[in-house]
Amino acid sequence: MRTVYVNGQFVPEGEAKVSVFDRGFLFADGVYEVTSVLGGKLIDFDGHATRLERSLRELDMKAPVDKDELLAVHRELVEINSIEDGMIYLQITRGAPADRDFAYPAADVEPTIVLFTQNKPGLADSPAAKVGIKVISIEDQRWGRRDIKTVQLLYPSMGKMMAKAAGADDAWMVEDGKVTEGTSNNAYIVKDGTIITRDLGTEILHGITRAAVLRFAREAQMKVEERGFTLEEAKNADEAFITSASTFVMPVVEMDGQKIGTGEPGPVAKRLREIYLEESRKAAT
Ligand code: PDD
Repeated sequence: MRTVYVNGQFVPEGEAKVSVFDRGFLFADGVYEVTSVLGGKLIDFDGHATRLERSLRELDMKAPVDKDELLAVHRELVEINSIEDGMIYLQITRGAPADRDFAYPAADVEPTIVLFTQNKPGLADSPAAKVGIKVISIEDQRWGRRDIKTVQLLYPSMGKMMAKAAGADDAWMVEDGKVTEGTSNNAYIVKDGTIITRDLGTEILHGITRAAVLRFAREAQMKVEERGFTLEEAKNADEAFITSASTFVMPVVEMDGQKIGTGEPGPVAKRLREIYLEESRKAAT
């Protein structure tokens, strides 16, 4: 049985409890982070902790713990649950006031904080990375502040189900004719050697993996363009891929039933995956 962390305590998962009045449960009034673990170490903890602080600030939410405590809790969970490869999920909500009320609760209501581990042996050797994944395109019907990592994940869940129903692995979302991102990842195409990915704004999550991958790409003298791209461009691209803390760099080989490039993982995606994994393992804490 897993040991999880709830509001200051490490408890067996079966004994972990959150109130029915919790605003995360009633209003999706909460933020989250997913940090991967490779070789028992945290990948880019600082990036995730910094983005968490920003998400909390944007929503006027109190931080229940500081960065150092958060790191200690992450490490403790990895240790207690003997995680070699996997993920740590963290969620903070605006807490549980005495009743349901749209207005934010009084300042003395403490935020709720929950962390748990997900054990994924061999996470970096995923078979999908060798063959690539298939995506479909769907309309982006999420709210307008996608730069805040909130737990409002119903539409992304619907998107994954639409993909599944279509025999695909994931969906890329499109708004005003341009791809925003994948349901739980950032989206990229490669054309004539240039890596193209949506520019940062409120329309997409500012991926921690995205920041690292673009940095490594530039260091390797690859050309990067941060701008929106159309589905047409995606279908005519030489390659495509996604990035996230749980998939790292994952090739995309099909879009709406149409092959991208050769229909096999491309050299840029493969190389970026290698560089990303190598550098991230080196810098892991
Ligand atoms: N998802 N875009 C969206 C909408 C996401 O949900 C995520 C992450 C990303 C990639 O961000 P990062 O590189 O920081 O993981 C982009 C996580 C993994 C999840 O919901 O499980």
